[in-house]
Amino acid sequence: LDRRHMLGLGAAAIATVASGRVSAASKPAKPFLWGAATAGHQVEGNNVNADIWLLEQVDPTVFAEPSGDACDSLHRWREDVAIVKALGLNAYRFSVEWSRIEPAPGQFSQAYLDHYARIVDRCREQGLAPVVTFNHFTTPRWFAAAGGWENSDAPDLFARYCDKVARAMAAGMSHALTFNEPNLALGGRWSASPPPPAFMDRIAACVAAAAKASGSDRFSLLNTGDPAPMIPGVTAAHVKGREAIRAARGDLPIGLSLAIPDNVAVVENSAIERKRADVYGPFFAVMDKDDFVGVQTYGRAYVGAERDVEIPADVPRRPGGGEWYPAAVGNVVRYAHEATGLPVMVTENGIDAADDAERERFIPEAIASVEAARKDGVPVLGYIHWSLLDNFEWFSGYGPKFGLVAVDRQTFKRTVKPSAKRLGAIARAGGTGA
Ligand code: NOJ
Repeated sequence: LDRRHMLGLGAAAIATVASGRVSAASKPAKPFLWGAATAGHQVEGNNVNADIWLLEQVDPTVFAEPSGDACDSLHRWREDVAIVKALGLNAYRFSVEWSRIEPAPGQFSQAYLDHYARIVDRCREQGLAPVVTFNHFTTPRWFAAAGGWENSDAPDLFARYCDKVARAMAAGMSHALTFNEPNLALGGRWSASPPPPAFMDRIAACVAAAAKASGSDRFSLLNTGDPAPMIPGVTAAHVKGREAIRAARGDLPIGLSLAIPDNVAVVENSAIERKRADVYGPFFAVMDKDDFVGVQTYGRAYVGAERDVEIPADVPRRPGGGEWYPAAVGNVVRYAHEATGLPVMVTENGIDAADDAERERFIPEAIASVEAARKDGVPVLGYIHWSLLDNFEWFSGYGPKFGLVAVDRQTFKRTVKPSAKRLGAIARAGGTGA
């Protein structure tokens, strides 16, 4: 039996496979994960050794505002975990910050390794599955200054970091993701509304200022320009990182997450195949030894001959004008399984909505689409909503509202929104019942 075939049979059948590593045949099936997600830089605050922090501080910057204290989750993480638990969810996805764990090359912070290990442990004590992302966009400043993913040492540097993290806390993890959306910028090249050239110029000026501030002419990071020269480094880093994590704990399920919209062909199907090859193909190619694929979906993309085209006039709309199509995620779950043969985890799905009532409507529809895919036999490991908290949305600052929980910008007080309760109720009921 081919491994892909076996994986396709579902969680209970994830049995002794070609690699001989996994022997889950005798273990009970793992429960479906219902979770909420955050990422270090977006919620912790004062992530001063990160490349992005530097980009936020330089003049000119392209960031709407600096991340500052973010949600102060560096200190309030226990409260965040408690909220996930109280809602009735059973999983928390968060990321560990490389720039805290290795603030200078080869110098590892035991205090921060302990910090993140405590989060993993606390999740376990609370009965929550910790889904841990090793790289969520940010890298240490020194890494970016040394050429980032274009540096030929990058895969080894990433693997060394993965090794340290895995030895410190892989034992408690439920799932590990090496990278978060390493394909984001590749997808951007197909975008129907790419950032105007003036904005790209502002990004370039901001990166140049960061390079100057760090005294390096090699300063490089993902999502700030042409990703092509970085992709080989990132894919090699995934492979080496996965090996390092596996060496520390052989039975920990490992994957990476990809930004995948529900791609709809508006011209010929070959266009969609070209886009898929461009934007997901480089990663699927190195995921052959992964245990699952994480998908992150925020809507549909209408694929024209060369790039995406504008949303058709006749689709249902959100109040702000974007398309209303929560079922996108179910379609992507089906596609990702079909393309990789791997079990799928929805590691992000959500909506930027100031009006929480919209999110409340979105959640059950999105989940129903995932449930329909499961009923059709697609092995889905979980549904993790982005995001637990209203947080720092990168270039856009604190304007966008993706959170299930509001965070007061002055006091950091968390206020659970009705949508969070809705998600919790669905989780407790084991689904929407659709
Ligand atoms: C994808 C990213 O992983 C996350 O950092 C971001 O905030 C959300 N999508 C929303 O844009």
